[in-house]
Amino acid sequence: MEIKVLVAYASTHGSTQEVAEVVADVLRERGLVVDFQPVRNVRILAGYSAVVLGAPLYMFHWHKAARHFLTQHRKILADGLPVAIFAGGSIETADETEWREVRRQLDQELAKFPWLKPASVEIVGGRFDPKKLRFPYSLIPALRQMPARDLRDWTAIRAWASQLAEEFQPVVVH
Ligand SMILES: Cc1cc2nc3c(=O)[nH]c(=O)nc-3n(C[C@H](O)[C@H](O)[C@H](O)COP(=O)(O)O)c2cc1C
Repeated sequence: MEIKVLVAYASTHGSTQEVAEVVADVLRERGLVVDFQPVRNVRILAGYSAVVLGAPLYMFHWHKAARHFLTQHRKILADGLPVAIFAGGSIETADETEWREVRRQLDQELAKFPWLKPASVEIVGGRFDPKKLRFPYSLIPALRQMPARDLRDWTAIRAWASQLAEEFQPVVVH
């Protein structure tokens, strides 16, 4: 049986898109058929066996396009279509406390969708470049003075995607 997975992402500066690309590649390497799409382009979920939804956190909120996606597709997702979630965040340090704080922010956002029971939730770390700040953030001195950072852990991201590939395989009954 063909397992077709949608990997949908929102990304303002491209770092979450790059993570989504790696997740899609790993799922393909594991034999799954993958559709890779910006979340705003997705219209229908019929025909997919599972969904991976990734988006960054900005100012304590998960990207609006991802939240809109959950609202728009509530029925099919609440009816049992498996959805795995990841969030880009953390541009300060890669330590445990920071990771827990980012997870707390994401959990708070996901709590707005009490019907949602994700198959998996992962924090993937973020990338920050003060030169790419857009208005109004470009006006905030504290942000402009922060060093450029990339806290994405590609080994952990690939491991998470491999685990998803296992979960999305159909259970074979002999
Ligand atoms: C103005 C600004 C606000 C941010 N706010 C948060 C936040 O509240 N929580 C968090 O975990 N990360 C925050 N981040 C980090 C982003 O989530 C990180 O840079 C991410 O990689 C951006 O993803 P993108 O390149 O796909 O847009 C913020 C980054 C910027 C530039």
